[in-house]
Amino acid sequence: MAGQLPLAFGDLRPPATEFLPGAWHLPRYAAGQAKALLAAIDLVNQHAPFRSMMTPGRRWMSVALTNCGALGWVTDQRGYRYQATDPESGRPWPPLPDGLLALAQGAASVAGYPGFVPDACLINRYLPGAKMALHQDRDERSYDHPIVSVSLGLPATFLFGGLERTDRPERILLEHGDVVVFGGPARLRFHGILPVADGEHPEVGRQRLNLTLRKAG
Ligand code: SIN
Ligand code: FE2
Repeated sequence: MAGQLPLAFGDLRPPATEFLPGAWHLPRYAAGQAKALLAAIDLVNQHAPFRSMMTPGRRWMSVALTNCGALGWVTDQRGYRYQATDPESGRPWPPLPDGLLALAQGAASVAGYPGFVPDACLINRYLPGAKMALHQDRDERSYDHPIVSVSLGLPATFLFGGLERTDRPERILLEHGDVVVFGGPARLRFHGILPVADGEHPEVGRQRLNLTLRKAG
């Protein structure tokens, strides 16, 4: 009987897969750090609370967002951009926690992008029904660095398309602790999130949280 369960839970993670050239899905890669990540998000939220933001087209995004790191992604009627200060408070964004930096570096290395040093972490909060329309991540100064995305809480369907908005996207189910890394030839592919279905996650509650780490500046 003893001997029957020799595996650490980490060993039960499904293998990392390169689902398109340069784009990797690392199932449950961050699951062991979920508690620490949630505590970090709580702390960021205390200093730079989640808020709604408006697109340049004057539409409210359905996600609420905040940032940590030297730079934070913002949108308003003037456009999309990164800036060093929270527009609500005028203060710098909370720092990027060391553990989050290490997690992003580790995931990027697994995907073949060693030496990734992010300076920005956008944190999106999806309540049931919230979504993210297909878009490219192109507000960063260089596209030579990958994007590392960490998902927590309710599952969601990630759409990962081509270099044209109209290219038919692949669908990947992202669950609690999953990490996606896309860089190189996949860096500018359109991507988005289908409306999050209602549910209750045992550790995260009735929401999905997503952190995307970028080298923006
Ligand atoms: C994003 O593209 O900024 C968010 C992706 C996600 O929520 O998984
Ligand atoms: Fe994105």
